[in-house]
Amino acid sequence: MRSTNEFRFLMCPPHHFGVEYVINPWMQGQVNAADQELACRQWMQFHSFMSNYADVALMPAVSGLPDLVFTANAALVYRQVAVLSSFRCMERQPEAQYYAEWLSSDGFRVETLPSGILFEGAGDALFDRGSNALLWFGYGFRSSETAVPHLKRSLDVEVQELRLRDPRFYHLDTCFCPLEGGYLLYYPAAFDGQANEVIQARVPADRRLVVSEEDAIHFACNAVNIGKKIILNYATRDLAARLTSHGFELIQTRMSEFMKAGGSTKCLSLRLNEV
Ligand code: ARG
Repeated sequence: MRSTNEFRFLMCPPHHFGVEYVINPWMQGQVNAADQELACRQWMQFHSFMSNYADVALMPAVSGLPDLVFTANAALVYRQVAVLSSFRCMERQPEAQYYAEWLSSDGFRVETLPSGILFEGAGDALFDRGSNALLWFGYGFRSSETAVPHLKRSLDVEVQELRLRDPRFYHLDTCFCPLEGGYLLYYPAAFDGQANEVIQARVPADRRLVVSEEDAIHFACNAVNIGKKIILNYATRDLAARLTSHGFELIQTRMSEFMKAGGSTKCLSLRLNEV
């Protein structure tokens, strides 16, 4: 029976995880360098934290698809609709079929975008936590701007585009994290000038939590927010103190092996109940 937990996520175990190709700057020099055993321990630890506060559904790992663990890239889920990803890089394109199968067997209506429109799901599309009807959309490296009208039509939500400009932060969820209460944890230098203006205009100053480059490169913005809990790889004392002063509780769990592939906690999970 489907649980009524307010938070439900999809994860995929790392049995076939590894760095086997290079499609982002984090993977450079890391081919075959991820420690499989350590990755499993890190994933299990993260999974156990997640399970304390949320229901976690698991999809099977698939041999030959080392990035399938990054379920944030499966789709963008809203209510009962899942807008399936259409991956830019050939290496990840075969993943879409497995995500589609899992999501439809779980009861989602899976929608696919017209061919030629690139979209990497909840990696590049994040709901604001102040007003749920606002979807922030990052483009410039992976997803294409042409996905926007389709997302608007499929989901009937307002979409705010933000252009990314630093290749280290190639997905929106690597540098931008809406938090409960309408807060926003983000790294401004990852965005172009216009995007920064939009963020400043739309998010009140007392809700904007700017992170330093040091926090950004430790993937502090690639965080899972469950109520007042924030599960992330690492935060400096300064950032931890600021988040705590706003009532958040940090859970730091090391993700070094997944960072070699360019992802951390947020990338390894997909929120399934977005309403
Ligand atoms: N190696 C993967 C890629 O480059 C990492 C994906 C990280 N996912 C994310 N949502 N940021 O596509």
